Amino acid sequence: METHVVDHPLVSHKLTTLRDVRTDSPTFRRLADELVTLLAYEATRDVRVTEVTVETPLTPTQGVRLSRPTPLVVPILRAGLGMLDGMMRLLPTAEVGFLGMIRNEQTLEASTYATRLPDDLSGRQCFVLDPMLATGGTLAAAIQFLFARGAVDVTALCLLAAPEGIAHLDSVFKDSGHPIKLVTAGLDERLNEQGYILPGLGDAGDRLYG
Ligand code: PRP
Repeated sequence: METHVVDHPLVSHKLTTLRDVRTDSPTFRRLADELVTLLAYEATRDVRVTEVTVETPLTPTQGVRLSRPTPLVVPILRAGLGMLDGMMRLLPTAEVGFLGMIRNEQTLEASTYATRLPDDLSGRQCFVLDPMLATGGTLAAAIQFLFARGAVDVTALCLLAAPEGIAHLDSVFKDSGHPIKLVTAGLDERLNEQGYILPGLGDAGDRLYG
């Protein structure tokens, strides 16, 4: 898996305020939204485009438009919903699918409680949104859903990632033959005994939605 940690002072600034325990939910939601738009700029670097001719007021010239089928954006409920608007700001014509997943806080196993995805994702580029990549169980299961439906490449956007989660995704998908990319604002040190990212920002779902 290709991992891209976005190195930009605005990203670092917003991430620092997200980490701050004193940041309240309204501020957290606004900053997460802004941060995702900055991550989305990097994450869409390889979005497929088609060359077109466009008429300016003066002359025809060459340009590009997003190719069809349009990308699919998949927020993982619940916390991934807090990233959807920030992503759609850059890809307003994308289709949106939903995955509801929850991690058991004792076993750290992810389970799926809602699926609303197109049946056929053949040839689709997919962007998965989830603030936290901790053990990687949730994201691995989500990506498997997409590949099972024919998606060809998947880019995950996470506010924070842990080395354990990246290693898990690498081992699960090493022979998949599909490109997977991770774009994140921060690669943290490790997980604690409860499976939380350290230093992290706490429970993203709770900080977004209480
Ligand atoms: C959190 C987080 C990820 C997942 C990461 O969600 O938003 O989806 O845990 O953990 P993992 O990498 O170890 O699988 P949670 O299960 O708390 O659900 P929520 O989004 O509803 O808060």
